[in-house]
Amino acid sequence: MKENNAPKTIRLSEYRAPDYLIDETHLDVRIFSDYTDVTAQLHIRKNTQTAVATSLELVGADLELLEIKVNAEPVPESLYSIADETLTMNNVPGQFILTLVTRIDPKRNTSLEGLYVSKGMYCTQCEAEGFRKITYYLDRPDVMARFTTRIEADKSSYPVLLSNGNPVEKGDLDAGRHFVKWEDPFKKPCYLFALVAGDLSVVEDRFVTSSGREVSLQIFVEPQDLDKCDHAMDSLKRSMKWDENVYGREYDLDIYMIVAVSHFNMGAMENKGLNIFNTSCVLASAETTTDAGFQRVESVIAHEYFHNWSGNRVTCRDWFQLSLKEGFTVFRDQQFSADMGSETVNRIDDVNFLKTVQFAEDSGPMSHPIRPDSYIEINNFYTTTVYEKGAEVVRMIRRLVGVDGFRKGSDLYFERHDGQAVTCDDFVQAMEDANQIDLSQFRLWYSQSGTPCLQVSSEFSASSETFTLTFKQETPATPGQPEKKPLHIPVAIGLVDSTGNDLPLELEGGTRIDPDNPVLELKQPTETFVFRNIKEKPVASLLRGFSAPVRLQYPQSREALAFLMAHDRDGFNRWSASQQLVVSVLEDMIAGFQNNESVQPDSVLVDAFRTLLTDSSLDLAMVAKMLELPTEQFLAELLPKPTQVDAIHQSREALKQALASSLSTEMTSVLDRYPLHTEYHYRDQDVSERSLRNTCMYYLMSLEQDDVVERCLNQFKQACNMTDQLSAFKALVHSSRSEKSQVIEQFYQRWSNESLVVDQWFMVQASAPQADTLERVKELMNHTAFDMTSPNKIRALIGAFCNNNPVNFHNEDGSGYAFLADQIIALNKLNPQVASRMAVIMTRWANFDQARAGLIKQQLSRVQSEPLSPDVYEVVTKALK
Ligand code: ARG
Ligand code: ZN
Repeated sequence: MKENNAPKTIRLSEYRAPDYLIDETHLDVRIFSDYTDVTAQLHIRKNTQTAVATSLELVGADLELLEIKVNAEPVPESLYSIADETLTMNNVPGQFILTLVTRIDPKRNTSLEGLYVSKGMYCTQCEAEGFRKITYYLDRPDVMARFTTRIEADKSSYPVLLSNGNPVEKGDLDAGRHFVKWEDPFKKPCYLFALVAGDLSVVEDRFVTSSGREVSLQIFVEPQDLDKCDHAMDSLKRSMKWDENVYGREYDLDIYMIVAVSHFNMGAMENKGLNIFNTSCVLASAETTTDAGFQRVESVIAHEYFHNWSGNRVTCRDWFQLSLKEGFTVFRDQQFSADMGSETVNRIDDVNFLKTVQFAEDSGPMSHPIRPDSYIEINNFYTTTVYEKGAEVVRMIRRLVGVDGFRKGSDLYFERHDGQAVTCDDFVQAMEDANQIDLSQFRLWYSQSGTPCLQVSSEFSASSETFTLTFKQETPATPGQPEKKPLHIPVAIGLVDSTGNDLPLELEGGTRIDPDNPVLELKQPTETFVFRNIKEKPVASLLRGFSAPVRLQYPQSREALAFLMAHDRDGFNRWSASQQLVVSVLEDMIAGFQNNESVQPDSVLVDAFRTLLTDSSLDLAMVAKMLELPTEQFLAELLPKPTQVDAIHQSREALKQALASSLSTEMTSVLDRYPLHTEYHYRDQDVSERSLRNTCMYYLMSLEQDDVVERCLNQFKQACNMTDQLSAFKALVHSSRSEKSQVIEQFYQRWSNESLVVDQWFMVQASAPQADTLERVKELMNHTAFDMTSPNKIRALIGAFCNNNPVNFHNEDGSGYAFLADQIIALNKLNPQVASRMAVIMTRWANFDQARAGLIKQQLSRVQSEPLSPDVYEVVTKALK
């Protein structure tokens, strides 16, 4: 591990094209039980366009160099030097073959980057800079080479040997060993390299592309997981078809392989022709996987598949451009999921996530633009800003140029840059060129960080029959960016009349607004729009479909919100109105909590919820979504600081109970109307029914009455699927009923062999609101099923406690903070990437009262006094700045 107390900052402004290029990379990887030897033959040539240097600098980490040759001649020690993760060679020829033999130790690699071992299986993760842990290389995405990979290992332990491209040769060797050689016809940056060696079973299928080429599809898993691949395979085929239909993109190799590994830092990785997936993002079965899990598998499979074009065929010039591939690909997978299910429900989930996590990130010390301009450790920038806000920026471009214009733009982008490593600017340029529009102000979304706040006021004049909307945009200062410029913001709107219809939009001066895409384009700090021929006071529905990632501040009465909830044509805004109504009611209750008085929820909300529960003409999925209370984390992000941790928790619980008791008849009849399914299908109607029933169960369980507890226990026992079983399990474990200890035991006994279900078991317990939860979490860290080298387990137990359990984590005695700091210090040595994710939780200290902020900072300082990985160093330093 690198231990360095002042790692250096890398800046976009200092980008230089590479001095040397690599045309071919031939790897020979020989796996032995105690070490692995890698021979790399690199065909290197000077980049005549840019080269100034005469020395070649390759990077490498945790490598033992055994051999170095130029054009087959050993290089004398006087001609090269190794220091600080670089191998420097002086006076190299203009073109030559460099041969390197390095020895590595995958079994001791707990960072899970480079080549490592997960449950006995060798696998790689090279993005962003893991390839340097395999051999010395020009480990940067603008160096693209054609790869061949020969893998050699013991045949009985590692019968399956995989790499990118097509297998071209295989054979048996002495001493029970064998080899397979792979060839990837597409040149690629080394971050897309992958290798797998293990004892794996495979599920196979095929896909015929639109031009008639047959592609073999293979999903490799451990033998006991063979029955959990159908959903991933089906999602893959639908993704392939969808990308042909919607983007005109066909797959380009004869094989597409996916390998499931249990120890994985992130969700999955788009290595060319050989995706490597966290088991949690590929395995799915009715018995072990929730509806949300099925949805996640579908979207991650799609995401990685879509990268084949947006990421692999056209890649990033440097890591500052990460959003070029990630923002675009998230946008593509969101579109895909919307097309596979309910567009509105998907949009709601995506926006909810953005507003909870990305808005929080963008208002804290780690705030950065979607194209950051500096970093210490690039792994810290695989963020919701680069991914999800990046997707929002692409979505805004699509809104500005229209659906057809967007397709023209993406066609031009792929055609113009196929085989290249390019920048975010190239993407915007293609959109501009294909549509003859000017996106120069819009480009600020790439360089300016922070969430813009959009304050809106409105005025109706009966005498002049006008309705006036005034928008004021302001982006708060963020680290390194004290002054902000006005952004180009598309605001989709509707003016709704008393019958629920949208009024025709005609601006003073005569401009008509396109009724099919009613968008106001804001460019100035303040802008006013006067709509004419408005005869009655309308209710304004603003930012429909969440047309821009901004904080909208438009005070509306509860009656207006309830009206929009029932009548807005835009499904997203119906949901948004319901959330705003709930938040406004909660604000009263929180204020009451502070004055020690209990406030009953406004009847406007109770009546609106009653309608949701009883009106059978409503869309079930929407009803379920609208009944879901915002999470404590969402509320913490939205409400004024310092965050009232306890008031938020208590008020939300009180609201849940008040709604449950006022609406218990209606909720109970939902339970009767939608009895437990006896067969599981992952399809919209069933998912909605389960979601609505379980939401009602969750409300009713807050009353902890015997009949509901009985029902919940029955559901726990009888459920034929994980969605229903886990909902019941969670409701019981989060209650104060004595039955729960038995339920916890039963659930574990039933699922102890299913690692991903055990993750859920940890998660539910770690997020329990009861006061003894931290003690329980500490106890569970000694449980046989817990594993500090498994990111999934860490997220399920430590992550769930610190992220999803605000009242306990923020206990004013500071015990939660001390616990987290201990874990960060331990993880820093084992797995810096995961440690750094955990450290991010502590960066939000400024959102809390002085006492808590002080305690968090104390723990941050304690972490800071350790020898830190660059990952944790960057986060902690920025947090304490
Ligand atoms: N490109 C991958 C994805 O978006 C993410 C891999 C990032 N891994 C990392 N260790 N930073 O699907
Ligand atoms: Zn991605």
